[in-house]
Amino acid sequence: MTSPHTHGHHHHAHDDEFDWEAMADSLELDSAITLPIVHEIVRTCTPHVEWATIGHVLDIGCGPGAVAVALSRHAPRARITALDSSAPLLGRVRHRAAQLGLDDRIWTIAADLDGTLPTLPPVDVVWASMVLHHVSHAVVTLGRLKDALAPGGTLVMVEFGNAPTVLPVTDPMRESGVWGRFQSATAATLNERLGLDPVGIDWPALLDAAGYVDIVDQRVAAHHPSPLDDTARTWLTKHVGRGLEMAAERLTADDGEALGTLLHDIPQRDDLFVHAERRVVVARRGAAE
Ligand SMILES: C[S@@+](CC[C@H](N)C(=O)[O-])C[C@H]1O[C@@H](n2cnc3c(N)ncnc32)[C@H](O)[C@@H]1O
Repeated sequence: MTSPHTHGHHHHAHDDEFDWEAMADSLELDSAITLPIVHEIVRTCTPHVEWATIGHVLDIGCGPGAVAVALSRHAPRARITALDSSAPLLGRVRHRAAQLGLDDRIWTIAADLDGTLPTLPPVDVVWASMVLHHVSHAVVTLGRLKDALAPGGTLVMVEFGNAPTVLPVTDPMRESGVWGRFQSATAATLNERLGLDPVGIDWPALLDAAGYVDIVDQRVAAHHPSPLDDTARTWLTKHVGRGLEMAAERLTADDGEALGTLLHDIPQRDDLFVHAERRVVVARRGAAE
């Protein structure tokens, strides 16, 4: 290891607190809310990628497969390899692909990104959404992914952006700071479970250390306006509900009560919206490598 970035901040003491299978339904909802971000990335963040003609996309940490399906539509000639360490989630991917008649296009592979990658045909795009903060040695994993890319190939990382905004600026819960305290409390619990602060990771430095070029770091948002449609409303109910569970011990009784009232009122409120942000870091394997 020649780089100072290969160790240090990725300790995953608590990573086994994530039960991905149990989270499958909320992962499905999360991807429904953030799918517009996938489209936006394809449209504006990947100028080097010829989506119409590329032959192979590797979707790592694919989860239940909504993104793999979207990618198969953006890259109509490509095989999509959907990789995850969770066999039940890969089962969901296969089920979804079969239902949509995409089972000849979407392949699944069970593998752990902490280990060596299975041998694959050269990859045009590696898509890594909300997964690389889980690996133990990011630079090592990034290096292996670079080796899987064809020369000139592109890595697209989707990572944590700012916490979502859902309340109008004039809402009393924003003005009183309850919502802000709720967001800080859920973030603190998440950081504790991950063993790191995923928002603070210097991805461009890690990508540079792994030998990538043309590294671009930006923010992309999905906006679901008020009044919320059913999917966004369901997502918001889950978001506040699971946030309250995560944050419970960090909130005062008054704050907990105010958030409980919000949770209860979500179905009736017509002023709520969902503005979800992601950080998108795009990088390439050098063309001459
Ligand atoms: C937050 S989900 C993201 C799902 C999907 N990419 C998305 O953005 O909607 C993280 C996924 O990464 C997978 N995962 C976590 N650690 C992994 C590892 N070390 N190797 C392979 N997959 C992993 C989990 O099983 C889960 O499906």
